[in-house]
Amino acid sequence: MPSSASLPPTGSSRYHSGAYGRQTEQFIDGVGILRRDGRIVILTGAGISKESGLDTFRDEGGLWSKVRIEDVATYEAYQRDPERVLEFYNERWRGMASGNIRPNAAHDALARLERDWPDEVVLVTQNIDNLHGKAGSKSLIHMHGEMAKARCDRCQHISPFAEDLTLSLSCPSCKKIGAMRPHVVWFGEMPLEMERIYAALGTCDLFVSIGTSGNVYPAAGFVQEASAMAGAHTLELNLEPSDGASAFAEARYGPATVLVPAFVDQMLSEGWEAAGA
Ligand code: APR
Repeated sequence: MPSSASLPPTGSSRYHSGAYGRQTEQFIDGVGILRRDGRIVILTGAGISKESGLDTFRDEGGLWSKVRIEDVATYEAYQRDPERVLEFYNERWRGMASGNIRPNAAHDALARLERDWPDEVVLVTQNIDNLHGKAGSKSLIHMHGEMAKARCDRCQHISPFAEDLTLSLSCPSCKKIGAMRPHVVWFGEMPLEMERIYAALGTCDLFVSIGTSGNVYPAAGFVQEASAMAGAHTLELNLEPSDGASAFAEARYGPATVLVPAFVDQMLSEGWEAAGA
């Protein structure tokens, strides 16, 4: 598949009713099909928020070069030293809530795509920041949880993260003291809403992965799921080839604030090129 934004000359166009209702397709003899509809699943990772001022995890100087996963991002770490784990997330939340961290052009573009695309756009993010929501994305799944929320480790009640998490806080629901933890998925824990995600992957036409290194499963396996289960076209938008780059049919490399708005502009004006019939 060509990887540039320039599209080949178009041939005749025709219309048909497919499994998902109205579809418009432009057939290009022997090259591919330009589609202006189809179900889209987008996966995002830390790279999309980098240009908003948030650290990624595995790039040079990333979060996991400063602190060990086993010390702050596992349930065992929380059991061993809850104060340290809570303070790690309190600090990250304070940094994010400071007002200087705002959605960037890539977050904004994905919200625009969801609003203006004629079919379903499901946005699955591994990020625990709140930038997609702030940009206006609504069909949004936070598979690794949200820093903006706290959860009771005893009754699982979820509440807004209103103040620093400490061992003296009580759960607003069951009243247990000292069991409030961040509503995030730690290593070894089950990501959230997997049924909904696999249902979307299994019926999508286009899968786009943005700003993720492809290191962490199950998200790293979504590209295979979308292509094998749904026969979807797959596209990677990243600063550099990810660990899973070879699994994608098409790729574009550069900063998210450049690539993503250009991709969305192209989608909304020309559509996307599916594999040839
Ligand atoms: N634009 C686009 N991509 C970028 C940019 C940018 N400005 N800056 C960095 N990237 C890319 C990097 O090249 C890298 O491939 O973003 C990716 C970030 O990878 P990771 O740091 O591994 O982050 P992510 O893939 O989201 O990590 C997955 O790992 O530790 C966990 O739970 C954490 O959700 C996270 C998961």
